[in-house]
Amino acid sequence: MPLLSALRRLSAKPTLQDWPGLIEAYRPWLPVSDRTPVITLREGATPLIPAPAIAARVGRGVKVFLKYDGLNPTGSFKDRGMTMAVSKAREAGAEAVICASTGNTSAAAAAYAKRGGMRAFVLIPDGYVAQGKLAQALMYGAEVLAVKGNFDRALAIVREVADNYPVTLVNSLNPYRLQGQKTAAFEVVDALGEAPDWLCIPMGNAGNISAYWMGFQEYRKAGHSQRLPRMMGFQASGSAPLVLGHTVEQPDTIATAIRIGNPANRDKALAVREQSNGAFHAVTDQEILEAYKLLGREEGVFCEPASAASVAGLLQQAAEVPAGATVVCVLTGNGLKDPGTAIDHSDGSFHAGLAPEVDVVAKVMGF
Ligand code: F0G
Repeated sequence: MPLLSALRRLSAKPTLQDWPGLIEAYRPWLPVSDRTPVITLREGATPLIPAPAIAARVGRGVKVFLKYDGLNPTGSFKDRGMTMAVSKAREAGAEAVICASTGNTSAAAAAYAKRGGMRAFVLIPDGYVAQGKLAQALMYGAEVLAVKGNFDRALAIVREVADNYPVTLVNSLNPYRLQGQKTAAFEVVDALGEAPDWLCIPMGNAGNISAYWMGFQEYRKAGHSQRLPRMMGFQASGSAPLVLGHTVEQPDTIATAIRIGNPANRDKALAVREQSNGAFHAVTDQEILEAYKLLGREEGVFCEPASAASVAGLLQQAAEVPAGATVVCVLTGNGLKDPGTAIDHSDGSFHAGLAPEVDVVAKVMGF
């Protein structure tokens, strides 16, 4: 009944069920064919949320939006890249994937690989992965290998393993990852009707900033936007190789997702900075925590600490934003990924051990 279903579609309001996942939504822009088995959890189509409290702090009529990629199926932007990387791995007949990860990549790799009937091996820095991410990798059935070293060491190991054994590397060195992730830039332009003036984004391995730039360029070339944004990349000051211009041997930050000293996409990121007339800056853990709390308390948006680096960076650089400009801050991951940091650092008031009585409760409430 194609006519009936077409009529029904015209009269019904759109539902999330209409969103087929980003490979189908952006198929002409992606290197897939009829032979590609699409492995999807209907990722993408994440909201672009106005951020009036942050805009008020920047001032001068600047408009600020949050691209909240923490609402993807496994809670981070990694799902965009993983639907592509895992679909292409399956197409090529792979039976297993491998990645090094500060947590989010491992959760996404595990979810998509298992859905595609493959094994997932994930190497993580022992003791430096947020609890929610570890829980996910385990629940999705990954084989988790925690190594006594940092992310950079883990990445060096998985690269060598993937070169020598029948497992497909799904870190952002896999080109299909960035292909999937570029769709976030398409969504931003689709939502705004134009590219923003500034895109603020946290950087670890610098895959995501490279993917966004690719997306903005492709969309402009096709006439979907008239301009390109300045790409503003932010790193934690204890893990800021792209700001400092050299590898950091012992990276350190509360934002464990971006605790990376030797970014795999270094050259791509430097080219993005140059081509977009962008800038890279370091933000302190203190600035990250303040932005993290501000987002929760005043915008009602709970992201993980690494994600808050984009907002911390915008607030730090507020004086440089042109009056009336449109700024998009990318929130890469969901706050629930890292409950430990939230509980340790929130300013929320928590009254423990109260007697279960109305008058006791009312008194604490100030009545
Ligand atoms: N934000 C979050 C929440 C991340 O998990 C990552 C990277 C980044 C930002 C930085 O993105 O590497 O493309 O510059 N996480 C990787 C992981 C390293 O293993 O989950 P990037």
